[in-house]
Amino acid sequence: MPEEKSKKSKEMVVTPWEVSGDIDYKKLVKKFGTTLLTEKEIAVMDKYSKGKLHLLLRRGLFFSHRDFDWILKQLEKGEKFALYTGRGPSGHTHLGHLIPWIFTKWLQDIFDVELYFQMTDDEKFLFSQKLTFQETKDYAYENAKDVMAVGFDPKKTHFIFDSQMTPTMYQIAVEVAKRTTFSTARAVFGFTNESNVGMIFYPSIQAMPCFLPSKLKGKNIPILIPAAIDQDPYWRITRDVAPKLGYYKPAAIHCKFFPGLAEGGKMSASEPDSCIFTTDTPNSASKKIMRSYTGGRATVEEQKELGGEPDKCNVYWYEYYLFEPDDKKIEEMKLNCISGKLLCGQCKKSLAEKVKTFVAEHQERRNKFTDEMIDKMIIKE
Ligand code: TRP
Repeated sequence: MPEEKSKKSKEMVVTPWEVSGDIDYKKLVKKFGTTLLTEKEIAVMDKYSKGKLHLLLRRGLFFSHRDFDWILKQLEKGEKFALYTGRGPSGHTHLGHLIPWIFTKWLQDIFDVELYFQMTDDEKFLFSQKLTFQETKDYAYENAKDVMAVGFDPKKTHFIFDSQMTPTMYQIAVEVAKRTTFSTARAVFGFTNESNVGMIFYPSIQAMPCFLPSKLKGKNIPILIPAAIDQDPYWRITRDVAPKLGYYKPAAIHCKFFPGLAEGGKMSASEPDSCIFTTDTPNSASKKIMRSYTGGRATVEEQKELGGEPDKCNVYWYEYYLFEPDDKKIEEMKLNCISGKLLCGQCKKSLAEKVKTFVAEHQERRNKFTDEMIDKMIIKE
């Protein structure tokens, strides 16, 4: 729960509200009961993308799933799925948030499928001590512009704004709520007597978009959810309820957390210096990269003598997962770092340029979207 932060301890904590400690993804997969992606699924994706696997999949930021193999099987039988992902609008968007969206856009492109995108302005109001409802509702529009700037097909992308929920959506949430006991929700999410009752109802609202496409189209539609693995507890509850309501269980494909700019830890909006926000000016984004943690040695001499440790270096991971698709170049970068040939300053400078361009281009696309345009994409009844 948000109150019980355990930042200092190194113990792994992964809940939808808190990610801290040293994350052991193999252990997490065991604990959550999900499945690691294998060569088999990757090979199928390679085929669908005509040999152009997304870097985030090829290099393993997306690493785990539930029933993704089933989604691919249904596809072979001619049954198309829909994508569902979302965002809790608690502030401005940062690079870490964009990661699953970038991957989701790739999935939309290669499979030509509909995307349902949930903006949980209710969740962020209910779970926050500080944010007013007006603030989360405003951030929902701002964040939606970032979503669209990633390049989704506006004709195939539908927003669900929780605070503007339709009667159909509400009725699905109520059906889910009736089949979820407090004791299950408490075991999965750690609710306490101090949790407000809105928090306790909320998991039914995050489950709802898993069934909405089927309800709207009048036939069962498989759902694939690309999201960071901390959201998995929601899908566990949803998957238990699905057969009771006559729907397919939603499938999920999970990513690891995108590293922040500080030492260890993910990119987290509560530590603004660890994040590149889409609202940062390109220059200030570039400066943040120049200040980022690399795990480099104390002096240039030491660095040359002992070499660097790319596995600990944020700059390396940014290149690895996002900015350097060339396998040869990334390998070279790694080896030259380890051997002490390549110095942190050089790597930072080169990444800073790339991030600067990335932010500038994102903003250019983002500026084309107005509140009115977002409004037109919100599902209304
Ligand atoms: N709970 C998510 C958050 O805090 C928002 C969300 C709603 C979501 N539905 C989702 C995220 C589906 C991923 C997939 O950010």
